[in-house]
Amino acid sequence: MTYTANSSRYSYNNFKRCGDSGLDLPQITLGLWHNFGGNKLISESKKMIFRAFDRGVTHFDLANNYGPPYGSAESNFGKLMATDLKKYRDELIISTKAGYDMWPGPYGEWGSKKYLTASLDQSLKRLKIDYVDIFYSHRFDPNTPLEETADALHRAVQQGKALYIGISSYSSNQTIKMNKLLKERGIKCLIHQPSYSMINRWIEKDLLKTLSKLNLGCIVFSPLAQGMLSEKYLNKIPANSRAKKNSSLDPKMITKNYKNKIINLKKIAKNRNQTISQMALAWVLRHKQVTSALIGARTLKQLDECLDSLNNLKFSKNELNSIDKYAKEENINLWATSSKN
Ligand SMILES: NC(=O)c1ccc[n+]([C@@H]2O[C@H](COP(=O)([O-])OP(=O)(O)OC[C@H]3O[C@@H](n4cnc5c(N)ncnc54)[C@H](OP(=O)(O)O)[C@@H]3O)[C@@H](O)[C@H]2O)c1
Repeated sequence: MTYTANSSRYSYNNFKRCGDSGLDLPQITLGLWHNFGGNKLISESKKMIFRAFDRGVTHFDLANNYGPPYGSAESNFGKLMATDLKKYRDELIISTKAGYDMWPGPYGEWGSKKYLTASLDQSLKRLKIDYVDIFYSHRFDPNTPLEETADALHRAVQQGKALYIGISSYSSNQTIKMNKLLKERGIKCLIHQPSYSMINRWIEKDLLKTLSKLNLGCIVFSPLAQGMLSEKYLNKIPANSRAKKNSSLDPKMITKNYKNKIINLKKIAKNRNQTISQMALAWVLRHKQVTSALIGARTLKQLDECLDSLNNLKFSKNELNSIDKYAKEENINLWATSSKN
């Protein structure tokens, strides 16, 4: 049976303006990095996409190489775009990216015009759509002139293949430069996508201020630190969890020191009638610059729990001070190299 979206999907009032643009984004966005690849969507993942949209999540975030195998998350999402979600295209913000390893040879990664242009064309075919809403430079490329990357992003907009442009894991300095280069080409940088969570706070140093000054939106990824900001790792590492699979989350990260932080954060969350994950999402959204928290989920239950975080986004000064005692770096930022420049 074809999917029909819930008619109350816009009753959640969960939107926030993205920088000084005309675009509103949902405060929680669903990303398809893990759990949406393979040769077809597993039923739980398909249900999560529909549930998200039913609950007002209009934004889905992809990249050329999400899978595994590379490209399969886009292909799977594309199958839905050609069927169940087709009639909702104009209600959806679909983003994709290019920057990391995608195909062999010198034109299969980084920031050249050759790579970005070919990659976007491939993404559109897999996604079965004519344009993406946001096209990102997925990482800063220290060996390609930034002008060339800006040219490629500008070209995507000129050709109508992307409506808006974003950058991901760029440092504050490189963000300023890219923003200027895009302006000179007559287009705007809409949004920055950095990693950020209670245990990965690098954007607080200067990036958030820069985004504020430049009026860019900000969508923070891995706000749950890939699941570490939950109670799941307090006892043993559960089957099916990311740390068990050891693909992007190294089980060595589950240390005594980390668990101690979680035990204390859990107490604070409990007093707010929230789970740690819900408090972690509300906490990243407390910045006025942060437009959306970009989550992943493996089950419908996780997704619902995350979306329920929007029921309590306010923090008292005391709560924030208590959180600060335990919200300390855990050296989990896998994307730090890109923002070192
Ligand atoms: N721009 C970039 O370079 C970049 C890099 C990474 C990600 N991203 C984007 O950001 C999105 C999110 O990244 P992420 O998946 O790392 O985000 P995340 O939200 O920090 O982690 C998601 C994982 O946390 C666990 N989880 C989610 N909800 C939970 C809940 N309520 N209770 C307990 N555990 C819960 C699940 O792990 P288990 O499977 O272990 O249960 C889930 O797969 C990606 O899909 C992608 O779109 C972008």
